[in-house]
Order: sequence, then structure tokens, then C-alpha cells
Amino acid sequence: MAKKDIAWSELGFGYIKTDKRYVSNFTGGKWDDGAVIDDDMIVMSECAGVLQYAQTIFEGLKAYETKDGKIVTFRPDLNADRMIDSAKRLEMPPFPKERFLDAIKKVVDANRDFVPPYGSGATLYIRPYMFGINPVIGVKPAEDYQFRVFTTPVGPYFKGGAKPITVKISDFDRAAPKGTGNIKAGLNYAMSLHAIVTAHNEGFAENIYLDPASRTKIEETGGANILFVDSDGNIVIPKSDSILPSITRRSLAIVGEKYLGLKVTQREVLLSEVFEGRFKECGLCGTAAVISPVGRINDHGKEFTFEAGMESMGPVTQKLYDTLTGIQMGTIDAPEGWIFEI
Ligand SMILES: Cc1ncc(COP(=O)(O)O)c(C=O)c1O
Repeated sequence: MAKKDIAWSELGFGYIKTDKRYVSNFTGGKWDDGAVIDDDMIVMSECAGVLQYAQTIFEGLKAYETKDGKIVTFRPDLNADRMIDSAKRLEMPPFPKERFLDAIKKVVDANRDFVPPYGSGATLYIRPYMFGINPVIGVKPAEDYQFRVFTTPVGPYFKGGAKPITVKISDFDRAAPKGTGNIKAGLNYAMSLHAIVTAHNEGFAENIYLDPASRTKIEETGGANILFVDSDGNIVIPKSDSILPSITRRSLAIVGEKYLGLKVTQREVLLSEVFEGRFKECGLCGTAAVISPVGRINDHGKEFTFEAGMESMGPVTQKLYDTLTGIQMGTIDAPEGWIFEI
């Protein structure tokens, strides 16, 4: 099979329809066998639970070609676990972990020609999701659900090198204490849209959300966890029950400790510590960029610029980035179980 004729290095982050997708239906209290299909359209009742009460959850991961030509994904078992947690919180039937991994394998395998070549910087983004599909008018969980996985090739996150960004402290809250901030539910993203459009209109790349109860502690951004490097060169990760447990951030913590010999501390981080100059580097961690360097934080006009500056990633952030992407691309030995071959 030949790769599709796509200008891989010019791809952005947009939807491009690929040939196949995976579908499984939950009806009568159980999941059917599931299948890889051609049809990208979904037909559902006008009163479907997802349309009325936003009962939908999702995941995001990537498949890519390694240096030796294998197609792999990175720690998909953790996406399966997180989707199970999301399902339980929204009263949806969890999609079994083994079935999730099988679905990823099948749908990537069926779209092999869309996996960008090694070295292009592009990847095949994988989107598993699940939603309530039967008519629901009184507020309650749906009875029938659909689990689907589609893929779409996406371009390199950083074109021409990673440039540090300026982020603002948001006036909006992302997640209530004991709310749904720690799961990947569509509703968390719907409510973030106004905040991100506002930030972009003001010239900022992203929002940092504070804890809504005291508005003093750093939580995360709309689509990534945050990591700091302190003045000793060690890693500090904000701890909160209402942030999404990022698979990239959890992996970077292990990389920092086990591969780079750094101390990694997870604790509550006050915004005031940033302005006191406790940290010299800051990065946003997520599947999309691995680490996106933050050069400057703006809190209502008061600005703090990290020592690493606005030109390039700081040295510790760079080492973390190089090591994790090396592990993902197969040029550095991975810890047991991190690389899932298709
Ligand atoms: C709110 C939020 N935080 C963090 C992340 C990063 O998580 P991961 O590293 O698993 O992609 C994401 C993206 O998935 C996200 O949407």
C-alpha cells in the first residue's frame, strides 16, 4: 500500500476525512461486536441525549511512523483508562479497555496510508468518542450509546521551531471543585470557547485557569497541563483534583526523574510564586505539542517573563521535549509498555 498523496509538512490541525472509522453501539444494556466502516455520517434522533444534554466524552492520541518504519501509538492504555473514568462520571457505560485498544489498532491499521512518514513532523491524530444517542427529554442518562474512533492526519505543531507564547490569567473558571475538570467531557470544552476567543482577541495564545475557590492557585490551560522548572532546575507540577490528568505530563514527570535525574514535585502552585520569580521555565504539556514553552504570563496587565525568554525553549524544557519525542519516535529506549505497535 502506498501513502496518500498529501503535502504532510504543510498540514495544519484540521479535519481531513480518512477512509475508515470504528463504530460500536451500546443497546439493550450491552456493547455489540463493533466494526470498521466506511460511512463518516451519523444519523440520530433530533432528541438524542448528546444533542439535548451534552452527554459526550472523548479522547485524543496520535499514531506515527518511527525511524524503523513501524506504526505506533503512545500509551493508549492510559487513554482507555481515562475514558472509563470520564464515562463513569457522566453515567455512561464504560467501553472496555481491551476493546478500546483493539479499536485503536483496527482503525489505525485500516488508515495506514494516512499515517505521515517519519521525519515529516506530521502525525495521524486519533479521536475516540462516545455519546448518548437515543431520545432523552427528561434530564437523565441515555440508554443507548455509540462509541466511535476516527483518525485525521495533522501537521507538525511547531512549524519552524517552537516559539514561546504569552498566556493570560483568565477571568473565567474552567472547573468547579468536585466538578468535571478531571474528565474529558465535551461540556468542559464548550464552556471554554468564550474564554479562549476572548484571550485570542486580546492577543494571548492561551488561558491559564486558577482554582475557582480561591483564585490563587494555578490549575491548567484549556487544553494542556502546566509544568514549571524551579531555580534549581527541578520540575514542579501544579496539583489539583480538577485538572485533566494529562498523559504527556505524567510521562514527562517520569522522563524528568528517570532519564534526566531531576527532582519532580507535585504540589499546589500559587500564582504569586510565579511573580516572585520562583520558576525559570514554564511549559504546557499535551498530546498536540508535547511541550509548548510559555515565555510570559500576563495577569491583568502585570507581566512576568521567564528567564528562558521569548526566543526559544528553556534548557530543561528542551531536554524534556527531546527525550520524550525521542522515546515516541523510537530513537531512545522506551519504558516497558509505553509504545503500542499497530
Ligand atoms: C484540558 C486538558 N488538559 C490537558 C490535556 C493534555 O492531556 P494529554 O497529555 O493526555 O493529551 C488536554 C488534552 O488532551 C486537555 O484537553
